[in-house]
Amino acid sequence: MSKKLKIGLFGFGCVGQGLYHVLNNSTGFKADIVKIAVKNKNKERTVGAELITYDKWEILNNPEIDVIVELIDDANEAFNIVSEALKKGKHVVTANKKLLAEHLEELYLLQQENNVSLLYEASACGSIPIIRSLEEYFDNEELEKVSGIFNGTTNYILTKTIAEKLSYNDALKQAQDKGFAETDPTNDVEGYDAKFKAIIIALHAFGLIIKPEDVLNIGITTLHDNDIKYASEKGYKIKLTPIIQRLEDNKVSVFVAPRFIKENNHLYNVDNEFNGVIVEGKFSGEQFLQGRGAGSYPTGAAVLSDISALSHGYKYEFKKYAQKKAPTFTNDVLIEAYLRYTSEEDLKRIVFDEITEQYTGKDYHYVVGKVNLKNLIANRDYILKHQLFISLVDEKVSRPDVTVKSSIKENVTTKELVNY
Ligand SMILES: NC(=O)c1ccc[n+]([C@@H]2O[C@H](COP(=O)([O-])OP(=O)(O)OC[C@H]3O[C@@H](n4cnc5c(N)ncnc54)[C@H](OP(=O)(O)O)[C@@H]3O)[C@@H](O)[C@H]2O)c1
Repeated sequence: MSKKLKIGLFGFGCVGQGLYHVLNNSTGFKADIVKIAVKNKNKERTVGAELITYDKWEILNNPEIDVIVELIDDANEAFNIVSEALKKGKHVVTANKKLLAEHLEELYLLQQENNVSLLYEASACGSIPIIRSLEEYFDNEELEKVSGIFNGTTNYILTKTIAEKLSYNDALKQAQDKGFAETDPTNDVEGYDAKFKAIIIALHAFGLIIKPEDVLNIGITTLHDNDIKYASEKGYKIKLTPIIQRLEDNKVSVFVAPRFIKENNHLYNVDNEFNGVIVEGKFSGEQFLQGRGAGSYPTGAAVLSDISALSHGYKYEFKKYAQKKAPTFTNDVLIEAYLRYTSEEDLKRIVFDEITEQYTGKDYHYVVGKVNLKNLIANRDYILKHQLFISLVDEKVSRPDVTVKSSIKENVTTKELVNY
């Protein structure tokens, strides 16, 4: 039987207010928000002053409060609040992907040691119920891959560049004007946000705890009109996609990069601020979930779903993490990519193991072929500094074949083949 929970809420911004609205308008579930901690004493609030506090200890030390809902925008302070709450034996619900991705192992251990529940459905893809689906529905099935569009801001920008032929900067400005992108959009456009979500999903899909610094994230900041032209001519859309893929030797690779998407892919029609997730199981095949990855009410609804689950005593069991034959993480994989480059020096740095297409024009050059992820990781800063653009042309990731080395394939389809 469910019990009426007493909640201490941290943060009353976009998601905090969304949760407040969704909870107050929920017909099926009731819980009491006992106190709300916020930061800025000069802000006007839409709730009574008696509910507000500026002192986190007023919530953390209140024995009446059994659930902490953490919805603040400061990942470091969120870690202090969440770890303190878990140590005090309080259950926690959070939407903070940065906090989770950076402290996954510590938080996993803390909730185990203190025998409390830490739930975070809203942290990955907003209202799409991906974590609980992985935990409960796909708990026993060996998964092959999880991929998708995990960031609405970049998806909005990329949609506008293809559909309305806007430049990257104009599309970013439009996203900021509409409130989809923050004034400092770095976390979104450089792929950090999508990477944090991929790390959380990798734990529940494959039982892996990976450090953010080990995972490549290449964003869309260097996207140029020529790349948009290339994609449009081939009938592709460009999406920023995390790929979490199992490889043949029980290894899993995880990375975030732009990708050319063909019309036959589910993600092709996931546009604007929407998110989509594709889960591929060994036996169940492909499943596709689409929904709102952000926003006040959709994210508030995901947080409420976790609070409701808590009232029934729900706890993640991290079943895949507990498995003895959980896979290990690798970056030693080949991906098929398009690279827009400017000089021969670029190709000496970013060495393609195999080239299938190459073009050198007056205004830009590109190459398409197979490149090792390790090579891209080593050159990430170089790619950004020199404004090169890299995009996957195929989602298939493979382990390197040691016999293939820096060769141009015979079926090369170059327009103007340069000496390589
Ligand atoms: N926005 C979305 O659609 C979305 C979607 C999924 C996940 N998330 C995640 O949800 C979390 C909240 O995002 P948001 O968009 O709601 O942020 P937001 O609108 O910027 O609101 C942040 C809230 O946190 C409060 N706050 C900041 N530092 C605090 C502290 N030290 N102690 C107490 N309160 C503090 C702020 O207080 P003041 O009101 O006093 O400024 C504000 O109420 C983030 O982790 C975010 O990544 C957001």
